[in-house]
Formats: sequence, C-alpha cells, structure tokens
Amino acid sequence: MAALWTAACAVGVALLGALRLPMPSVFPESNPRAKLGPLDQFRGISSTTLPEFRLWIFSDAGGLYAISSVCTHLGCVVNATDEGFYCPCHGSRFDKTGKVVSGPAPKPLVYVELSISPDGQLVVDRRNEVSANVRLEV
Ligand code: FES
Repeated sequence: MAALWTAACAVGVALLGALRLPMPSVFPESNPRAKLGPLDQFRGISSTTLPEFRLWIFSDAGGLYAISSVCTHLGCVVNATDEGFYCPCHGSRFDKTGKVVSGPAPKPLVYVELSISPDGQLVVDRRNEVSANVRLEV
C-alpha cells in the first residue's frame, strides 16, 4: 500500500511540474512605459543594466538603444557574458546584438523604444518594439 501512495505522489508531482512548464517565469510589468532616470545619467555610457526594468541600455556613435533582458523562450532574465547574453533557465545564448546563438529561445532579444520626456528623463516604452538599428540621438 505504501508503494502505491509513493507512486501516486510521484506521478502527482510530475504532473504539477509538467503543467508549470508553459508558464513564463517573468510576468509583464504593470506599467510598460517608465522613466529610467535623467538623460545625463546615460550620456557617455557604453552599457548599463537596469534590473528593476529588465533592460540593458547601450550607446554607440548613433545614440542610445535598449535591449530587453527578458528571454524570448519562457521569460527568464538573461545575464550578460563576454560573448553576449546567457539565459540561466534553459541555457539559451545570444550574441551581443541579441541574436540567438543557441536555443531553445526561438527569437532574438527584443529592442524597445526609448524617448526623452519633457522633463529630460530617459523613457522606455516596452509596448513598442523597434528594429535593432534604431537609436535615440542624445
Ligand atoms: Fe528558457 Fe531562457 S527561459 S532559455
């Protein structure tokens, strides 16, 4: 009888785990548009991470751009590496531009729109994806 209970519990735990798989690990933020801080704080940086916004901000000769740190597989937060980005959840790797190097992530990391508010703050709007070559001139 104990063996049957043990087997039933094992099957139950396995089923709960299987049901959890398709759910994202990170849920959408309540406010997709947010002020990130004074624009001057971002001038001249090469890169910085804003974990509270799940963003990486970069700058190059064209200006500022933002890459979401939310993995396109199931929504874990990726970490920066020397080669680009790595997702600790299931091992996806992305190059420095966010392109998938190895899965299971099906798509590149998302570039999101940056703008400047009237009071001089850098603003991100996660509702607006932009192409990888879009820059905010500062
Ligand atoms: Fe699965 Fe990133 S969430 S690889």
